[in-house]
Amino acid sequence: MTKLKIGIILGSTRQGRVSPQVGEWVKGIADQRGDAEYEIVDIADYNLPFLGTTDGTDPGIAKWNEKINSLDGFIFIVQEYNHSITGALKNALDLAREPWNNKAAGIVSYGSTGGARAAEHLRGILGELLVADVRTHPTLSLFTDFEDMSVFKPQELHTATVNEMLDQLIAWSRALKTIRS
Ligand SMILES: Cc1cc2nc3c(=O)[nH]c(=O)nc-3n(C[C@H](O)[C@H](O)[C@H](O)COP(=O)(O)O)c2cc1C
Repeated sequence: MTKLKIGIILGSTRQGRVSPQVGEWVKGIADQRGDAEYEIVDIADYNLPFLGTTDGTDPGIAKWNEKINSLDGFIFIVQEYNHSITGALKNALDLAREPWNNKAAGIVSYGSTGGARAAEHLRGILGELLVADVRTHPTLSLFTDFEDMSVFKPQELHTATVNEMLDQLIAWSRALKTIRS
C-alpha cells in the first residue's frame, strides 16, 4: 500500500510569522508515526495573486493546484486574525476547487483563545470544498505555549492531542482515497 501524502499547510504569510515553528513541531510529531509522508506546504512559496486580480494563468496558481491535487489530506496550521483565518489562507483555499474535494483535514490553531474562532470559520469553508475535517483539534495559546508571543514553547500535553488528531486524519484520508478516481 502506498503511503498517504499529507500536507501541513502554513496559513500565515506575514514577515515575522510564527507558523513555520508550529508547522515544524507538528511535522516532528507526525514523522515519528511512519504512517504517511508529511510535508510542509507554505502558501508563501507560491506567489499566489489575489483571486480575480489577474487572468488566472499565473504559474503559481497552477503549481498550487498541482500540489493540493497531489495530497491525500491536510493539516491546517491556523492563526487567528480578527476572529477568523488569514486572508492569505482564504485566498489559497479559493484558488483551488476540485483538488480539495473528498479529502480529510485536521486543524492545529493558535491565538489568544487558542485560535478557536478562526478554526470554526475554517470548518465552514471546508464543508463547501468537500473536505472532511476531523473532530480533535489542538488549540495553542499565545500566552502559555509561546514566549513573548513569538518563540514557540508548546506545553507537553499538546503532543497527545496532535497524535489523536492524526489518528483521525489518517483513518479518514485512507477512507476517502477509495472514493476518488
Ligand atoms: C491582523 C491581525 C489580527 C489579529 N487578530 C487576532 C484575533 O482576533 N484574535 C487573536 O487571538 N489573535 C489575533 N492576532 C494575533 C495573532 O494570532 C498572532 O499575532 C499570531 O502570532 C499570528 O500568527 P502568525 O505569527 O503565524 O502570523 C492578530 C494578529 C494580526 C496580525
